[in-house]
Amino acid sequence: MFLVTGATGNVGVELVRALAESGERVRALSRAGRSEGLPAGVAAVAGDLDRPESVRPALDGVRGLFLMPGYGGQRQILAEARDAGVERVVLLSGRSAGTGDRGNAVAGYLIDAEDAVRASGLRWTSLRCTSFMSNALRLADQIRKGDTVRVPFPDVRTTDVDPYDIAQVALRALLSDDWADRPLELTGPEALLPADRVRILGAALGRDLRAVGLTPEETRTEMEASGMPKPYVDAFFSFFVDGTLDESVVLPTVEQVTGRPPRTFAEWVGAHADAF
Ligand SMILES: NC(=O)c1ccc[n+]([C@@H]2O[C@H](COP(=O)([O-])OP(=O)(O)OC[C@H]3O[C@@H](n4cnc5c(N)ncnc54)[C@H](OP(=O)(O)O)[C@@H]3O)[C@@H](O)[C@H]2O)c1
Repeated sequence: MFLVTGATGNVGVELVRALAESGERVRALSRAGRSEGLPAGVAAVAGDLDRPESVRPALDGVRGLFLMPGYGGQRQILAEARDAGVERVVLLSGRSAGTGDRGNAVAGYLIDAEDAVRASGLRWTSLRCTSFMSNALRLADQIRKGDTVRVPFPDVRTTDVDPYDIAQVALRALLSDDWADRPLELTGPEALLPADRVRILGAALGRDLRAVGLTPEETRTEMEASGMPKPYVDAFFSFFVDGTLDESVVLPTVEQVTGRPPRTFAEWVGAHADAF
C-alpha cells in the first residue's frame, strides 16, 4: 500500500495513476478526500498535513509515502510513519533546496522538509524539481480572453519539468531502494523562455498568441495581487531577478531513473490543451 499526499495536485494525480497502473494499492490523500476521477482500486482519504492526527489513520499498512513539502505536521507525520512500519518516503522538493539558503522563504521551507525526511529514519529520496510545466496553467485565463499573454520574468530561461515525469521518478523511488537516501535533481529536456512557451501553446491551440514581458514592478504587483505572501514574492525575485537560482541547465536524471527522456513542453500542452 502506498500513501500519496497532494493527490489532487499536478504531481499527485500523475503518481496515483502511475502506481495504480503498476498494480499497486494506493491511498490518495487530500483535505476533502476527493474521489472523483481516481483510477479503480484507489481509495480516497481525507487528511490535513497541518494536522498530523488527521493523517495518522491513513498510514496503517503503508509501505511507501509520497510527501508534499512544507506543512506544519511533517515531522510528526514522519515519526508516525516510522512507527506504522512505512519503509520509504519520497519528498516533493525544488532545485532551490540545493542553494542551502535558509534565509530565502521558498528554499527555507524546502530545506526544512529535506531535513525532516533525512532525520526520519526512513529510506528517503528528495525530488529537487525545476519549475513545473503546469505553471503554464496560470496563463489560461489570459489565453481564453485574448491573444496577448503577459508573462513574468521574460528573460529567464528555465528547463521546466512535466509533473508526469516527476511522478515517474517518484514511482521508481517508492518501489525500490535504488534511488534512496539522496536528492535527485529533475529537469525537463529543454531550456525555454516564457515567450517560447507562449509560442508553443499558440501552435498547439491554433492561435496567434503573443507574449509581452512584464516589468519587475508589474511582476511584483501581479504576484502580490494573486495572494502570494511577500516573503515568497521576494524569494522568486531573488531566484530569477538577482539570479540566485539557475534553472537553465538540462540534467540527465529523469532519463537515468526512468530510461526515457523527459517530456517536452509541446507534449505537456498536447496532454492539457483542454485546460486552455
Ligand atoms: N510549481 C513549481 O514550479 C514547483 C517547483 C518545485 C517544487 N514545487 C513544489 O511542488 C508543490 C506543489 O505540487 P503540485 O503542483 O503537484 O501541487 P498543487 O497542484 O499545487 O496541489 C496541491 C496539493 O496539495 C494538497 N494540499 C494543500 N494543502 C494541504 C493540506 N493542508 N493538507 C493536505 N493536502 C493539502 C492539495 O489538495 P486539496 O487542496 O484537495 O486538499 C493538492 O492535492 C509545492 O509544495 C512546491 O513547493 C513546485
